[in-house]
This record gives sequence, structure tokens and C-alpha cells, in this order.
Amino acid sequence: MARPSITLKLATTLDGKIATAGGVSRWITGEAARSVVHELRGAHDAVLVGIETAIADDPELTVRLPNYEGYQPTRVVLDSRGRLPLNSKLAQTARIIPTWVVTTVDLPGEMLAAQVKAIKVPSRHQRVDLVAALDALSKAGIESLFVEGGGVIATAFLQAGLVDRLEWFRAPTIMGGDGRPVIGHLNVTDLGQMYRFDRLAVQTVGDDLWESYELS
Ligand SMILES: NC(=O)c1ccc[n+]([C@@H]2O[C@H](COP(=O)([O-])OP(=O)(O)OC[C@H]3O[C@@H](n4cnc5c(N)ncnc54)[C@H](OP(=O)(O)O)[C@@H]3O)[C@@H](O)[C@H]2O)c1
Repeated sequence: MARPSITLKLATTLDGKIATAGGVSRWITGEAARSVVHELRGAHDAVLVGIETAIADDPELTVRLPNYEGYQPTRVVLDSRGRLPLNSKLAQTARIIPTWVVTTVDLPGEMLAAQVKAIKVPSRHQRVDLVAALDALSKAGIESLFVEGGGVIATAFLQAGLVDRLEWFRAPTIMGGDGRPVIGHLNVTDLGQMYRFDRLAVQTVGDDLWESYELS
């Protein structure tokens, strides 16, 4: 079965930072860019984040736009060790909007009682095996996936060759070397090893720039 098509969304400063060293990222980009992100969420079957983002930001990952009453994508958290807090917004709203935790362990009964769906997959290097995760998502009917970070997840998807499209929002700010980089080490030692994308569109949204790319 084909894996879902994967769009990686990133919101960074000009110097490619996604959060302060302490993990504060709200808000790197402005309201107009965030509205576009909500529209993009609504155009995908599922939205995915890493567990550190789920813990740090306690996001809802819903489509929240004026007068929007449409479809809400499934929320997916990659959480190898089952650390998603029961009192997180994601778990607390799982009865209303599908919330799936892709994990390598058994989730506590309270999570399942809150109607969080556990998708247990094998581990690879002590973490959720991405290929197995995508296979499970595909079998569960997810054809398009909107990956919203954070940096560790973005790096893992890139490194595994699992990014088809980039939606990159860039604020006119510079944070400096103290900030958290959007992409971690990719073991690039030669320019030919860089990951290359074709730019599809560039537009301004409020004070920010929105760039769309597809893998070359
Ligand atoms: N500006 C933006 O666009 C943006 C977007 C999102 C988040 N953020 C910020 O980014 C920060 C969090 O990002 P982060 O990079 O620290 O963490 P993250 O990418 O949100 O989550 C990383 C965690 O995901 C889990 N994971 C499960 N399977 C994995 C796999 N196959 N490969 C890699 N990780 C896997 C790992 O924890 P386990 O081993 O426990 O599973 C890993 O530590 C927060 O400060 C948040 O505010 C910014």
C-alpha cells in the first residue's frame, strides 16, 4: 500500500530557528501565516507532530478559521514511550476529533478510555519506526499527512526521504545561535548530498513569506 503523501510545514525566523533555547515558539510567524496553516490543515487527512511539541505547546491541531464548520483532520502524535499527558488538549478532545498516538508501548487504560487511539508499531533506534508508522496510517485510510514539526521530527522525515512537499513560513526576524534550529544534523559532507527542492510558489502573508517547494 502506498504511503501517504507528506507535506512538511515549518515556521522559522530568517536564520532558520523554530523556538528559543527554552522551547518558546508562540508565535514565530504572524496571524496571517497561521491562518494559512489552518487552511492547509483542512486540506490534509491528518496532521502530525512529535511528542515534544505536543508536550511543550499543548496544541489543538484543529482548523480554526472564521465561520469554518468543515472537516477536522485526524491528529497524530509520534510518541514512542506513551508520554502524551492525559490532561493535554489532544487527549481531552479525542472524543470529538480523532486523536491517534503512534507508539511502541501499550498506552495507559485512561488514554484509551479518553478515546485516544493507540497505533502500536515496531521501534527503530528506540523510536517509532517511521516507515511502519506511515504504513499503519495508510492502512487506517490516511492518504495525505501534514507534518507540523518540531525540529527532531522534521529532521527524521527528511533523513528518511519522507518529505514530498515543504510549506515554509519565514518571519522577518533573526533569533541567533541560541535558538533551536529547524533542521538538525543530516550528515551532509558534500554539497551534492544536500536535499534539493523545486520552488513552486512564493507569496507574502502579512509580514511573513510563504514558500512552497516540492522534492526535486
Ligand atoms: N516553529 C515551528 O514550526 C514549530 C513547530 C512545531 C514545534 N515547534 C517547537 O519545537 C519544539 C519541539 O520540537 P523538538 O524538535 O524538540 O521535538 P519534536 O520534533 O516535537 O518531537 C521529537 C520527539 O518525537 C519522538 N519521536 C517518535 N518517533 C520518532 C522518530 N522516528 N524520529 C524522531 N523522533 C521521534 C521522540 O520522542 P520519543 O523518543 O519519546 O518518542 C522525539 O524526541 C518546541 O519548542 C515547539 O514549540 C516549532
